[in-house]
Amino acid sequence: MKLETFNLTKRFGAFTALEGVSLTVRPGTVHALLGENGAGKSTLVKCVVGYHRPDDGAVLVDGRERDVASPTVARALGIGMVYQHFTVVPGMTVAENLLLARGRLPAVIRWRQARAELEAFMLTAPFALPLDATPLQLSAGEKQKLEILKQLFLQPKLLILDEPTSVLTPQEADEVLGALREMAHAGRNSVLMITHKFREVAAYADDVSVLRRGRLVYTGAVAQNSAPQLAAAMVGEGRGAAAAAAAQPRPPRSPGAPGEVRLAVRGLSVAGDRGALAVQALDLDVRAGEIVGVAGVSGNGQRELLEALVGQRARESGSVRVEGEEFRATRAQNRRLQVRCLPEEPLLNACVPHLSVARNLALRRFDRDGPRVRWRALRRRARALIDEYGVRTQGEDAPMRALSGGNVQRAVLARELDGEVRLLLVANPVFGLDFAAVAEIHARIVAARNAGAAVLLISEDLDELLALADRIVVLSEGRIVHEVSAAQAERHALGACMGGRAHAEQREAA
Ligand SMILES: Nc1ncnc2c1ncn2[C@@H]1O[C@H](COP(=O)(O)OP(=O)(O)OP(=O)(O)O)[C@@H](O)[C@H]1O
Ligand SMILES: [Mg+2]
Repeated sequence: MKLETFNLTKRFGAFTALEGVSLTVRPGTVHALLGENGAGKSTLVKCVVGYHRPDDGAVLVDGRERDVASPTVARALGIGMVYQHFTVVPGMTVAENLLLARGRLPAVIRWRQARAELEAFMLTAPFALPLDATPLQLSAGEKQKLEILKQLFLQPKLLILDEPTSVLTPQEADEVLGALREMAHAGRNSVLMITHKFREVAAYADDVSVLRRGRLVYTGAVAQNSAPQLAAAMVGEGRGAAAAAAAQPRPPRSPGAPGEVRLAVRGLSVAGDRGALAVQALDLDVRAGEIVGVAGVSGNGQRELLEALVGQRARESGSVRVEGEEFRATRAQNRRLQVRCLPEEPLLNACVPHLSVARNLALRRFDRDGPRVRWRALRRRARALIDEYGVRTQGEDAPMRALSGGNVQRAVLARELDGEVRLLLVANPVFGLDFAAVAEIHARIVAARNAGAAVLLISEDLDELLALADRIVVLSEGRIVHEVSAAQAERHALGACMGGRAHAEQREAA
């Protein structure tokens, strides 16, 4: 399929998110779409699939203008979309989610037949998942794979992916993108992919387009471009040098020796959703002024560990102490001990989407202020935080869900790092952020550490851990299988520990 947008324009109220964008995705190619957080990338592809109605311009499929009035129309045309946010139904199994993707279901599903078909599909798919698992039991990476499988199951002629690799490890990303490129080059489909990673553009895309503040500022062959050139196009003239510097963030290591133990975990066991132990007899200390990195392939207990620490999941046994005090993560304790958290999927786990940015920024303060909230002060504080953290929003009264993905992340970070922080629990803090935001957020985490905070950083991105952590532990199948100081850490050795048997077993189970 050949896709063209002609002069596409989209406004939200008085704000123009997209202005006169004309680009072409050539048949059988992988086309990358780059741009800063809030540049309009998601808005563009949502116009193509009929999720948004453009205010002006047209969408052409194989040279013919099409009125894509809704995602259903897009699907009928053979356009599939993997959204930036998860769309799987949490309570349904992988098999049910796959069938549901078709949209049109018979009144009675012939399960034996459907099952055979799904099993056959899994065999040909570039990666497999257990058909009977529900998304609640899947890690972020696995859920992302399910989103992609859902679309592949429909055999689209054009597959659009909005940041498909932001929750995948580099190895998983290579697996997924390699498979997509192979399919495109075999002529089975065309791919339009939004990403923030230059490496992926260089390795897997044929063409690349860059959006800046709603306008198309570059489109052409990948081969004719370098990462610094693309970065400069993203942020605009004059900021090129800053962009190049930001592309290689290397915050300094801890200035001094770590202080007293702030977080002490002893013999912690946590059950996963499938009943089996997801975290097993885990011992871990995090001291003041140090960043302890937890490495691991998604699905090895990271999610359960964080949930158990912040009180969102029951602990089977063991103890968690913060500053020597038995820690139950109540609101009062969080406030008194100054424990903050940046969870995965912040729009879901750390926000109330329909409330305003100002109110979301105040979520940690409601308790303190009691029933008499001082709205004016709250909004003033929000404006200051929005400014300081560069959150791109139409104002503090905009609902949180109107923010672009990266800006949700910034807003949550602004709230959690406001004031003194003694213990910071972080999971994959830069998923889906553009390179400038990545550098900035890394710098802020390091600054919190330098100011004396104890930081537990759970991340599937080894490069992030190598850059930020003072000490790294590897989590595999719920156990710490390796521990090393970051100065002595070696990519290869860590990778080998991370690999473990987990992958092979997952495939087998599937
Ligand atoms: N439904 C909406 N209502 C109002 N404004 C919106 C809406 N959706 C998006 N916007 C605004 O349009 C702009 C572009 O948003 P978009 O989601 O397309 O950015 P993006 O390039 O995908 O960014 P990111 O990399 O952070 O995902 C942002 O400033 C955003 O706040
Ligand atoms: Mg987006």
